[in-house]
Amino acid sequence: MLANVTIAGVASSIPEKVVTNTELESLVETSDEWITKRTGIRTRHVAVGETAVGMAADSAAKALAMSGVLRESVGLIVACTITGEDLTPSMASSVQKALGIQNCAAFDVSAGCTGFIYALVAAASLMETLGAEAAIVVASEAMSRFTDWNDRSTCVLFGDGAGAVVLRRSETARVLYPILSATPDTNDVIVLRKDSRSTPFSPARNTATEYIRMKGADVFTYAVGVLEDTLKRLSAFCADKPFTKVIPHQANEKIIDYVMRTMNMGRDAFFLNIASYANTSSATIPIALCDAWEAGWLRQGDRVALAGFGSGLTSGGVVIDWDLPDKP
Ligand code: ACO
Repeated sequence: MLANVTIAGVASSIPEKVVTNTELESLVETSDEWITKRTGIRTRHVAVGETAVGMAADSAAKALAMSGVLRESVGLIVACTITGEDLTPSMASSVQKALGIQNCAAFDVSAGCTGFIYALVAAASLMETLGAEAAIVVASEAMSRFTDWNDRSTCVLFGDGAGAVVLRRSETARVLYPILSATPDTNDVIVLRKDSRSTPFSPARNTATEYIRMKGADVFTYAVGVLEDTLKRLSAFCADKPFTKVIPHQANEKIIDYVMRTMNMGRDAFFLNIASYANTSSATIPIALCDAWEAGWLRQGDRVALAGFGSGLTSGGVVIDWDLPDKP
């Protein structure tokens, strides 16, 4: 059961360096036209000095400052990433250290590009179980460090960045109708295998890819089906007060276009910022939430659906009654 919570702060942290499609033409055989037409991506931000952990801490600190929640009130930090620098400590523990929060629960979630939805639902549920007053949920990815820059079928798709929200207890529940789902990836359509080391007792496995590998057409088919299904299920849950806006995982504009048509919803009901950031995996949804609010697209009182899909193969969604005052 989710606690009665509201989103009290939102922020993002984006690397400075911007890489355009045209710049990628010098790395692989591709073109700005191909990338824009097939994906809607025009630029991506790429970490140079930034780290996934550093961007997570930066976005979490900004979201916390905005929320006005005191450090002492944070009972829980849930981080999600597939590209964090450390296996241990967790990204959440590193964020806790960076923010100087002395005592709270802290752990990471790994659910591919659906990570933020999983982390949000885990945090809102655990706030009830632990009696926590507030929680930080943060997604951060340095996809560029796990991208094969010789592989044109993947390197044009990804970008780096982080986004965070602060959840605070509220009178009324404003994070609603969680859906978390997963189906086995029997065809290995999205894989990022860790480096495999030999030990005195066993040779290295030779299955490591170290870079993200994807069967794009299979992922596309999965994505459109599951995104539509998640949004239809969310619609059925809140038939009495339908959501009027959608912030989907930003993997490919064509996936979103397809679902807009099948859901019979207009383009202005969907927030899109993939053109600027590409696919930042678990961070796309909180970065989009932040941009949507800052741009004045997301207004106080709006009911918005968040929906994601990713490796695993995972998927999920949630409905938010947005209660932050409009950006001045
Ligand atoms: N530039 C130019 N040509 C390219 C490029 C490129 N960057 N990439 C692939 N091509 C070529 C292929 O080699 C192929 O050439 P061929 O016909 O000579 O063999 C041709 O373009 C068509 O390739 P497809 O893979 O069939 O292209 P498609 O139209 O399916 O688009 C894409 C590929 C954009 C990857 C699409 O399949 C897609 O978006 N899939 C979903 C990706 C996604 O959602 N990922 C999210 C999950 S990732 C995660 O969870 C971490």
